[in-house]
Amino acid sequence: MASITYLFVTLSFFSLLACSSTHAQLNANFYATTCPNLLTIVRNGMRQAVAREARIGASILRLFFHDCFVNGCDASILLDDTATFTGEQNAGPNRNSARGFEVIDAIKTSVEAACSATVSCADILALATRDGVVLLGGPSWTVPLGRRDSRTASQSAANSQIPGPSSNLATLTAMFAAKGLNARELTILSGGHTIGLAQCGNFRNRIYNDTNIDANFATTRRANCPADGSGNTNLAPLDTLTSTRFDNNYYQDLVARRGLLHSDQELFNGGSQDALVRTYSTNNAAFSTDFAAAMVKLGNISPLTGTNGEIRRNCGVPN
Ligand code: HEM
Ligand SMILES: *[C@@H]1O[C@H](CO)[C@@H](O)[C@H](O)[C@H]1NC(C)=O
Repeated sequence: MASITYLFVTLSFFSLLACSSTHAQLNANFYATTCPNLLTIVRNGMRQAVAREARIGASILRLFFHDCFVNGCDASILLDDTATFTGEQNAGPNRNSARGFEVIDAIKTSVEAACSATVSCADILALATRDGVVLLGGPSWTVPLGRRDSRTASQSAANSQIPGPSSNLATLTAMFAAKGLNARELTILSGGHTIGLAQCGNFRNRIYNDTNIDANFATTRRANCPADGSGNTNLAPLDTLTSTRFDNNYYQDLVARRGLLHSDQELFNGGSQDALVRTYSTNNAAFSTDFAAAMVKLGNISPLTGTNGEIRRNCGVPN
């Protein structure tokens, strides 16, 4: 009787696991037998890329965010435009801004050489993102795998579903909620801006017109971002001190009213996220732990699995 009860409890436990997790189909061991060296290959590719240019870790992180927010983490952002195909790369949030495609292509080439037609571009992007964060000193996490690649992309969804830098807190919260992420996760994931750069055209209005900004910071940023509309592509770090070091300085900047984007400062402007921003500004360990968990959740957005989608041979082109 005891063993029958045990069996029953065990079975219900496993069926509960299978049903309670929306994304039980993703699994960190997905390629354990079909591509055992995958994690090493991706890590080596990212190590080389970050050694060449530290910023690439940031660029790949953003690529993953922009992929996952548009019809899920399906590598749709990697599909190149052609005469007969319009994808996401020329949508407003990506055009002349999304970068790192060549790094994913190079890693894909190495992965294909080791295990051909097996590993999706969506999974390579998820792993490369984690490795980039780790290489810049951030937290690590286990990446669930088994995503497949889309055959399509949507420029209009990329234009409407990726938040823009002039968004207010209500809009940001709503756009994250539409992807199953709560306001807390908005604040945590925005911490990705601890690394990387932004172009003047994305923060000009903030440094000339916003009032919730440190005066010295505004003066400094104005020097390389003219009010007259020139210098749109001039770059500034999203995090004032350490734009190639993944740490909690982003939150310290927000508390000091030195957020670069209007959307950044919205997280600390007298609203619901102030307390969490303060917490992370003094507690890097809490930020690291929460960021890692939120990245897994970001990576779980609507993956294609099973026989849906395909394993692209070339990340830029449907098979
Ligand atoms: C909350 C809403 C967000 C808005 C409005 C936003 C907006 C932006 C903008 C405008 C840029 C600069 C692009 C350029 O000038 O070329 C940028 C850069 C970046 N974003 Fe976000 N972002 C958001 C959330 C996120 C999230 C959730 C992540 C990752 C978890 C992320 C990661 C990055 C990174 C790493 C960069 C720097 C990329 C590079 O240097 O190449 N962002 N973001
Ligand atoms: C400041 O705001 C005004 C009114 O919205 C706008 O016309 C102007 O272009 C803004 N200035 C800058 C430098 O963005």
